[in-house]
Amino acid sequence: MKWEPAREDTELARRLGAGERVAALTLQACLLEVGERRSLGMPASLASLLLDRELISPLELAELLPAREEFGPYRLVRLVAEGGMGQVYEVLDVGSGARYALKAITELSPEELPRFTREAEVNARLEHPHVVRIHAARLKGSQPYLVQELLGGGDLEQRVREGQPLEPNAVRELALKLVSALRYAHGHDVVHRDLKPSNVVFDDRGEPRLVDWGIARSLRANTLKLTAGGI
Ligand SMILES: Nc1ncnc2c1ncn2[C@@H]1O[C@H](COP(=O)(O)OP(=O)(O)O)[C@@H](O)[C@H]1O
Ligand SMILES: [Mg+2]
Repeated sequence: MKWEPAREDTELARRLGAGERVAALTLQACLLEVGERRSLGMPASLASLLLDRELISPLELAELLPAREEFGPYRLVRLVAEGGMGQVYEVLDVGSGARYALKAITELSPEELPRFTREAEVNARLEHPHVVRIHAARLKGSQPYLVQELLGGGDLEQRVREGQPLEPNAVRELALKLVSALRYAHGHDVVHRDLKPSNVVFDDRGEPRLVDWGIARSLRANTLKLTAGGI
């Protein structure tokens, strides 16, 4: 089912109202604000506003958000980005209330499935302060999805487009961090092959992480055999 933020908001508001978990006036004000943000082209949702304002705990919210069969225990909070391959959502794990980023890949043909498998497999092998951490990779029917740590600082492309130009020192620091991630990956026989600003995402503390290992190439013989077999 397609994610339609207005419909999700209405359903969540109904459930919240019925449970009286958030005061009716507060809820009304939040809905108005979400509408305003959305009319400005911002990816807003009632769920994310309630979370950001700490008006409800993540676990309570997770239980109220509509379940979607295709995403197992993960409840959709907000659309973070929409790309050629699919969407990235902020989600809550209904079991723990933990927040994650969920990358859903739609319209994947059988020939493209190895790309997804490779992204999950390569990413899972890399543990580095400047590489996004992967939590789970799942396949539900023909729709695969990746669950990653949620990075709340936006990507470098957005930052450069919307903000001030980076100071030379900041550029140098950023470059050194990305080089350390690439060097680490190369040490693990992985080449990213898609280094660009939209694949550099910042966490809440402003630390950059490399994402999108979908076309990364593993130089390890066993992985090459595996992907060549289309598994
Ligand atoms: N873990 C994450 N946390 C927050 N935002 C993310 C995360 N991963 C990706 N994004 C956002 O989603 C966008 C698309 O994700 P990406 O993995 O690059 O997919 P695509 O294959 O569509 O380029 C990124 O440019 C970034 O803005
Ligand atoms: Mg990308």
